[in-house]
Amino acid sequence: MFIKTGQIFGVFIIMFVTACNSIQPNKLQYLPEYNSALIKAYVNTCGQCHAIPHPARHSYEEWGHVLVAMNKRMQERGYQEPSQASRNQINIYLKKHARK
Ligand code: HEC
Repeated sequence: MFIKTGQIFGVFIIMFVTACNSIQPNKLQYLPEYNSALIKAYVNTCGQCHAIPHPARHSYEEWGHVLVAMNKRMQERGYQEPSQASRNQINIYLKKHARK
């Protein structure tokens, strides 16, 4: 799983560099349930530093590892970590739409 993540890592870098920093709600159509209340915590938390990854990019198990890494990135950069409520929402959203 980590090897695969490493292989596609370069692609992510390119995506982050080319992605626009200011993400507007009308540009979220590529995400499942982009119009729902459920997606809000995911968008607000995970769109701060890079483009919002499509939830089907990883299995739910893989997302668990990514979220741990992202908490570290937030600590390193002095970003506020999401509240427990936001974490719950993010988990529900990712579980629902993760790669099967
Ligand atoms: C504080 C800034 C920051 C925030 C907030 C952030 N990320 Fe990241 N993210 C990064 C950086 C920097 C990288 C580049 C890889 C690394 O350093 O781990 C990255 C890489 C990624 C990757 C590609 C690498 C991989 O393992 O697939 C994914 C997917 C990702 N982030 C998802 C998320 C999700 C989901 C959230 C919300 C919980 C999030 N990010 C929030 C900074 C952030």
